[in-house]
Amino acid sequence: MTTTQWAALDTRPRQASLPPLVLAGCGTVGGALLDLIRAGQGSDDAVRSVLVRDPERPRAIPLPRGRHVTDPGDLPVEGGATVVEALGGEEPALSLARRTLRGGGTFITANKVLVAEHGIELQTLARVHRGRFAFEASVGAAMPIVRLLRDLPPEAEVRQVEGILNGTSNYLLDALGRGARWEEALAEAQRLGFAEADPGRDIDGRDALDKASILGWLAFGVAPADLLRWRIGILPDPELLAREARRAGGVPRLLARVRPVEGATLRIEASVHPCVALSGSEWAGVREAGNRAEVRTERGGVLSVSGPGAGGDATATALLPDLRDLRAPHPGPELRPGGAPIPPERGAENRHRIENRDSIEARDSIEARHRAEARDSAEAAHRREIWQHDPARHRTETRPSTEIWHLSADTRIPGLPQVEVRDRIERVLDRAQIERGRFERSDGRWRVRIETSATARVVLIRERLSALDLRPVLLRELKGGMSERG
Ligand code: NAP
Ligand code: HSE
Repeated sequence: MTTTQWAALDTRPRQASLPPLVLAGCGTVGGALLDLIRAGQGSDDAVRSVLVRDPERPRAIPLPRGRHVTDPGDLPVEGGATVVEALGGEEPALSLARRTLRGGGTFITANKVLVAEHGIELQTLARVHRGRFAFEASVGAAMPIVRLLRDLPPEAEVRQVEGILNGTSNYLLDALGRGARWEEALAEAQRLGFAEADPGRDIDGRDALDKASILGWLAFGVAPADLLRWRIGILPDPELLAREARRAGGVPRLLARVRPVEGATLRIEASVHPCVALSGSEWAGVREAGNRAEVRTERGGVLSVSGPGAGGDATATALLPDLRDLRAPHPGPELRPGGAPIPPERGAENRHRIENRDSIEARDSIEARHRAEARDSAEAAHRREIWQHDPARHRTETRPSTEIWHLSADTRIPGLPQVEVRDRIERVLDRAQIERGRFERSDGRWRVRIETSATARVVLIRERLSALDLRPVLLRELKGGMSERG
């Protein structure tokens, strides 16, 4: 009998040494990185200085002896330093990033607020000063979605990126699906280090929208500020979401999506909203604090990645490759100036060609229609942003068949007269297939009661599910549901 001999794989761990580095933040993420460095290198000698707020507070991972500071100004980040930032929020992270990059250094961050708000500026600073700006850990923790998008050649032509991008909300929805209580599940997500310092960012969709915006930049070259952004989080009634999803034969998930605005070739939309993922589907299989992302490309098919989307160790493992990346400074995504055309879908391109053959007027009218569509969609999305982007301005309550929007009296809508506001809201909600709206003012607050019929609700659910490519199963579900409601 013959046997095949395979060459033995060299499975010895790689011990590539790390550059001397400065660590800004030593909480869940920074502490886990310090721990990984000690385990991998046998010491924390590579860590020259650590910034924390309160060195006296008890911590699972002890700070390096005599090398901590509490004033960001004392961190040695100039002169080509390598800095890992795990502080969170805009300041002092932004000032540190600017100082580091202006000195030609490397700035590596897990902070999606920083990347979504200031990524373009920091990328530009890195280019100008021949520094390096890396942010793999800012989206999806251990899930390598930033790397995937950065390494995709433009010829692949990304059409859409969607994913579960927030570990905490997924953990909560998963726990509710198993019958856990909201308060307990949230406390556990915080104890495990998944939640943001302000967990409101996890559950109202802001965290996922920041991540979607970063992916929009990488996939389409559009600056986060130029995206049309809207979001619906899992509040105010996540338990209701879990029950509704169970009735539809699935589980609730918070889905983020970036894609060109429907019917428009000019603008990119980033959105976050809850949806139902049917049991047995890959989306439903994302459990606890897991993340998953799907990248639809024209020429490369559908690429998917998944992995732990939150937690100290998971995030620290995403920081290490950025630290060890010895390649030349990455050129980073090319920016398209806001509004530059995204290549149309291949089918659409063919349709244009056929129509264009007929006459110049036909081409002009198609272009005019596209411009108008783009303008309309942009305007609608912008309005949605007014309602949904600033929680201080409004509150949304969702009930099975009624959606109530409270607008505070100081909501700035040009021409506040009742009829105008009602028109705007009805048009905005049109897209969500909600049928009727009633507008009232009481106690100095504008209030809009939106009533959805059973059919409208069914349509709404169908739209969400089709997003997950579950249409055939869903249609069966819907037929049952509709006849039940008569
Ligand atoms: P964290 O546990 O709250 O840690 C924050 C660290 O920064 C702490 O060490 C804190 O000091 C220090 N710090 C904050 N503000 C400071 C200031 N003004 N001056 C000095 N030190 C300051 O937060 P985290 O969970 O590690 O998250 C850090 C970043 O990683 C955030 O941007 C977060 O969004 C991102 N991220 C987190 C996860 C996750 O699963 N946790 C995953 C991916 C990305 P003290 O130690 O003294 O409090
Ligand atoms: N709070 C974030 C989440 C951490 O739960 O996804 C990872 O970015």
